Amino acid sequence: MTVNPLAPTWLDHPSDANALPQAVWSRSATRDADGELEIAGVRASAIAAQFGTPVYVVDEADVHHRALGIRESFERELARVGSSVKVYYAGKAFLSVAVARWVTADGLNIDVCSEGELAVALAAGVDPARLGHHGNNKSLAEIDRSIRVGVGAIVLDSVLEVERVAEAAARHGRVQPVRLRVNSGVHASTHEYLATAREDQKFGIPLAEVHAVVGRIRELGSLQFLGLHSHIGSQIFEADGFAEAASRLFAVHADLLADGPVPELNLGGGFGIAYTSADSPLRIDELARSIADSVASSAAAFGIPVPIIAIEPGRSIIGPSTTTLYTAGTIKDVLVDGAATRKYVSVDGGMSDNIRAALYEADYSVRLANRTSTADPALVRIAGKHCESGDIVVHADYLPGDVAPGDLLAVPATGAYGWAMASNYNYLGRPPVVAVRDGAARVIVRRETEADLLGRDAGMDSA
Ligand code: LLP
Repeated sequence: MTVNPLAPTWLDHPSDANALPQAVWSRSATRDADGELEIAGVRASAIAAQFGTPVYVVDEADVHHRALGIRESFERELARVGSSVKVYYAGKAFLSVAVARWVTADGLNIDVCSEGELAVALAAGVDPARLGHHGNNKSLAEIDRSIRVGVGAIVLDSVLEVERVAEAAARHGRVQPVRLRVNSGVHASTHEYLATAREDQKFGIPLAEVHAVVGRIRELGSLQFLGLHSHIGSQIFEADGFAEAASRLFAVHADLLADGPVPELNLGGGFGIAYTSADSPLRIDELARSIADSVASSAAAFGIPVPIIAIEPGRSIIGPSTTTLYTAGTIKDVLVDGAATRKYVSVDGGMSDNIRAALYEADYSVRLANRTSTADPALVRIAGKHCESGDIVVHADYLPGDVAPGDLLAVPATGAYGWAMASNYNYLGRPPVVAVRDGAARVIVRRETEADLLGRDAGMDSA
């Protein structure tokens, strides 16, 4: 075994560079008798042949499993402390008509944060009463539409919005249920949380101002106050950040309760997932238990009942369900500092279908999808085809050293914020999303074509 000195310290030299670690891959991902990657009984090569690459492959049963797992864990744990839960799927992670129907069939509500996301949820036939509407700068048109269609809860993010939503609700003759987004000062991220202030950001109302703003909400007859909302960050591995946020929010929640009803408390989303085998997020049932324990102890400390808890997971439902398939093209062994070689494998997509590595230095893993190989593992970097050196999909992993042009490569855990943040950089059409289930594959979002790309260019019409 030769350990490449260019490998990051977290990346272990694999005993088997063909293995599909369960924590990272969707539940049905496996290798068939020929060694080929198969998801929900559909071979990677069959998907590539039928739909082309790059392609996002979503394991439908995996989405249901995670959606139900989260709902049932939180229901059980909050029932234990005398309360209940409302689970909203955070549509920003990935929303399509099919996904909206899957998660609502699993008993979840949906969070939208733009008129476009609202339109998708409505097109899916989701009962508007099951929708929450977020955003730090909702347009007047968005607010108006949300209220007109009967969205179940609007999360107010500013003093200006309190007045705008109240005015629109009054105009439509409605009493609009609202939450108030609070900047709790807690900012959590993977492996760490800073309980120190993080006031310097655009979301929410500072804790010190909440009392006055809720007072104003309660004065307005067209608004019904549901409770406070906080979202402390994303890709969180530990429960401490939620506990800290809950304890800060409860102080204000208890204070507000003295002047009127506060039936709910929304703790947001952000539950982390494994992108590589070095990641070990807390299990959902443990997270649910820990959050239920913290809200129960905070409520007890203030001598108040545990409110209905709302949560908004996105990534932890859709992220692990999806694998992106690419075709390998150019391969270069690049000698770095005259000392070690990194194999650059370029694929037919890149930062246009997954910007997370470029934007957040996010790590992913990669496997050969069309075959296995016993060749010695080589340290690889999976690069895209865009005209930018930061166009990386996988910074570091090991692939069998005989990886060759034409091989199919699979990058797991791309379901959250992959398609959702895709772009047309360099005029690449965005890839399709293909759902696999029980041995069958179907397109749930089709590939963008050259006609789509040219269709918005008004130049030819005016020439
Ligand atoms: N609720 C609110 C108010 C949020 O802002 C977010 C995510 C969520 C829920 C869902 O968080 P999740 O469970 O998916 O972590 N583009 C970044 C993530 C941005 C998250 C924005 N807000 C990424 O690719 O990592």
